[in-house]
Amino acid sequence: MIDNNNLQQRDNFGSRLGIIAAAAGSAIGLGNIWKFPYITGVYGGAAFILVYLICIALIGFPLMLSEFLVGRKAQKNAVGAFKRLAPGTPWFMTGWMGVVAAFVILSFYSVVAGWCLEYIVKAVTGVFTGSTPEQINAIYEGFTTAAVKPIVWTIIFMGITCWIVMAGIKDGIEKYAKFLMPLLLVIIIILDIRAVTLPGAGSGLAFLFKPDWSKINGEAVLAALGHAFFSLSLGMGTMITYGSYIGKKENLGETAIQVTIADTLIALLAGIAIFPAVFAFGIEPGAGPRLVFVTLPNVFQQMPGGYFFGILFFVLLTVAALTSSISILEVVVAYFSEELKWSRKKATFAAGGAITVMGILCALSYASSSAFSKVKLIQGTVFMDSMMWLSDNLLLPIGGLLVCVFVGWVLGRKKVEEEVNSEGNHLGYMPFFMVAVKFIAPIAIAIVFLKGVGII
Ligand code: PFF
Repeated sequence: MIDNNNLQQRDNFGSRLGIIAAAAGSAIGLGNIWKFPYITGVYGGAAFILVYLICIALIGFPLMLSEFLVGRKAQKNAVGAFKRLAPGTPWFMTGWMGVVAAFVILSFYSVVAGWCLEYIVKAVTGVFTGSTPEQINAIYEGFTTAAVKPIVWTIIFMGITCWIVMAGIKDGIEKYAKFLMPLLLVIIIILDIRAVTLPGAGSGLAFLFKPDWSKINGEAVLAALGHAFFSLSLGMGTMITYGSYIGKKENLGETAIQVTIADTLIALLAGIAIFPAVFAFGIEPGAGPRLVFVTLPNVFQQMPGGYFFGILFFVLLTVAALTSSISILEVVVAYFSEELKWSRKKATFAAGGAITVMGILCALSYASSSAFSKVKLIQGTVFMDSMMWLSDNLLLPIGGLLVCVFVGWVLGRKKVEEEVNSEGNHLGYMPFFMVAVKFIAPIAIAIVFLKGVGII
């Protein structure tokens, strides 16, 4: 039974635009700008994009709507939501897993976001101007394996994240998302225009959009699905938490579609900003973080106006990272403040502080002078890479699987309908949604999971 007093006391998003900005802000992050273009390149361009779009439509999008509706129905944080909707059952552990995933993801995410801050400074101070590719690579290696600087930037980035989250939903998360997301869109469009107007940009576009079906195999499909999860911020209670701040009159079905489309569009725009520029200068696209921290500085320093565009690009990355990191921290803060009855301030300090410590450990695990960098954990990788492995292969898929099963089989169609069709709204694709959450998504996620942990 939901008591109305409790509903009224909760901070909510204040406007429709605010909801979209905050949820899209969570989804659009480092994953879109660095990872999506890179994996698209590796797995055959347009062919991979098609597979990714299918994963988004059949699994990602239904799961996003599922998380929204669980959160809004319960009006609670990720743990409290399951306690309220399935009292006396172990389902609340799904929420716990989300809280653990938030710790794990934000620990490495804050380190990489810290790198983006350092790269804004490097771009502004013109460090790359006149450097050879070898020097730019050495700058990256030197910085990411240093002991002190990455830690300092991690702490600064977490400080900003905490400061926004502490201000609350309407006056913190929503306010900043409404300002930062349009800024992000403007920057990415400027970078796109610059990239496609470079002589020789066509081969980059071809790389990105010409399908190479020979590269589509099981591994590519798994990469697409795994990335769909991470990119849409699914499987760890972020959208449950944000959903709990959405008012009952909002059309959840529409919101989920809009956020999904925004996330996918920005990923494509990021690819269009990156590859034409890389190919125009005949540079081999780098793999992983090197694509943005080594390849692109090389590109910018040869490009007309590159000083300016370089700064813009790293501001873009930082903005994208920030609106995502606040959503991750909010999962933990909402849990601490509602379940443990802590003030928002105390919850933010505790969660932010603990995650910062984990972030420092991540940074140290890359620092060549630290003994911690010699400690090998999951599959022989250092702490930071192990955190990435844990979230990609274990926490997000299991979390997502459980949410689908919960919505499809435990809540069931009637309760789902009650929630998504609240206050005169109508979900036009109910049969598709139920088939997706009951069958398609759980089976697909189970396959990814078993493959990810090496069972199949
Ligand atoms: N969706 C973000 C990105 O693409 O970078 C990352 C992320 C944010 C993952 C929030 C999970 C999450 F809860």
